Amino acid sequence: MSDWNPELYMKFRSERTQPSIDLISRIDDINPKSILDVGCGPGNSTQVLANRWPEANISGIDNSESMIAKAAQDYPRQEWQVADAATYCPGKEFDLVFSNAVIQWIPNHANLLARFHNWVSEKGALAIQMPQFWDMPLGKIIRKTGDDARWKDRTGDVVNLFTIHDYVFYYDQLARLFPRIDIWQTDYMHVLENHEAIIEMMRSTGLKPYLDRLDSEADQKEFEERVLKGIKTAYPKQTNGKVILPFKRMFIVGYK
Ligand SMILES: C[S@@+](CC[C@H](N)C(=O)[O-])C[C@H]1O[C@@H](n2cnc3c(N)ncnc32)[C@H](O)[C@@H]1O
Repeated sequence: MSDWNPELYMKFRSERTQPSIDLISRIDDINPKSILDVGCGPGNSTQVLANRWPEANISGIDNSESMIAKAAQDYPRQEWQVADAATYCPGKEFDLVFSNAVIQWIPNHANLLARFHNWVSEKGALAIQMPQFWDMPLGKIIRKTGDDARWKDRTGDVVNLFTIHDYVFYYDQLARLFPRIDIWQTDYMHVLENHEAIIEMMRSTGLKPYLDRLDSEADQKEFEERVLKGIKTAYPKQTNGKVILPFKRMFIVGYK
């Protein structure tokens, strides 16, 4: 996949950062001195951590060079590192390992969660949020479009780039590792100006690997137009012309 575009990603800063605010506000019983933000992106989730625990030593890792460059530019006082969470070895423990909207991009979650658990100090916590993308009409429309014979040879495998299980799986994995677990789901009602805004929002995330695999701008435009058509049917306009996109997200906090 081509590198992430931090500016495009942050166009929807509020929608993208609210889940971090909510996840962090639910974490109790710990006062972390050291925190690792896994898949920190441009540093937006990391700043929410810094606001809650200003004394903590906070590091962010991300395997995107452009995201880390943006984070380092905007927040030079924190520690940033380009690293792949699937292979990263921190060499030390953290009182809080945090990851917002990231693990769906990483395979083998049984293994990944066990590794995250190893990075958490005694009495520390692991906090994760991930979208339940395929449960949503939006995810289904994008997936169906990618499966169309028109470009299936190029986009048919994109679905395999994402690893998303349901709460049954995550609870079972984490209950083996953590004595206490909080787990919940929320539908965020994103109020957007129009249907095109949904495409714009997805262009830097869920649509990105599909668009990356298409050879020409004409193909990319056609792909987006197909998705837009489906979106217009699935998400009706409100009486004031705006569009509500319910976005389903799952949250888990495991306490050691
Ligand atoms: C949707 S963004 C989330 C950014 C930020 N945490 C937030 O809350 O907005 C997903 C981030 O995960 C990063 N990412 C994806 N796979 C990764 C991996 N294997 N290791 C580290 N970071 C990864 C991407 O580069 C991207 O910055």
